[in-house]
Amino acid sequence: MIIAVDGPTASGKGTIAKRLAEHFGIPHLDTGLLYRAVGRQVALNGGDPDDASDALKACKFSDDLLGEAILRSEDTGSMASRVSVHPEVREALFERQRAFAMQPGGAVLDGRDIGTIIAPDADVKLFITAGVQERARRRWLEMTDRGIDIQLADVEADIAKRDARDINRSDAPLKAAPDALVIDTTSFNRDEAFETVLDAVKEALNRQ
Ligand code: DC
Repeated sequence: MIIAVDGPTASGKGTIAKRLAEHFGIPHLDTGLLYRAVGRQVALNGGDPDDASDALKACKFSDDLLGEAILRSEDTGSMASRVSVHPEVREALFERQRAFAMQPGGAVLDGRDIGTIIAPDADVKLFITAGVQERARRRWLEMTDRGIDIQLADVEADIAKRDARDINRSDAPLKAAPDALVIDTTSFNRDEAFETVLDAVKEALNRQ
């Protein structure tokens, strides 16, 4: 069973994907982490994330990077979004994601193009979204909790910029697959969002 979870930044898709994987007892891949590792490697190389050849070189990152806290930072998220526009980078990361999706026991993958490109054959496709103000509020709370001093307006501007880049890139833009279940979590807390998604997934699986 393959479950594809796509959606914009700070929509809650990562948490939902993780909980779905735990619920069904199958492995989970946060594909954003791979793009973040590329973004981080570009910075370590002193390269330019907007340059396709620098970005492609950075795809040879060491897996040790994947565990580093800095990968979760907003700066690395922005670098990830910039390197992810290059088709060369997307192609370099494709096989690893596809292989993860195709493992015998099934898998949950979350990202931007799982239902459209990586696993168009997924059993269930979810597109998790929420209003930009609410996503900014959630991200701001998370950052403030971690002791980061930042204005809500700056977080919102950053998220809007990242959305625009992810949606408008020509290769594998962020969009719901035609057969995805679109779930808006704006008015839900984490548990409500998960319960709503789980009900939708069970219903979709029952129909198959
Ligand atoms: O989900 P995230 O915030 O960790 O992702 C960081 C960036 O990586 C995101 O802004 C766009 C890119 N990305 C992508 O292009 N395709 C994916 N499947 C996952 C992430």
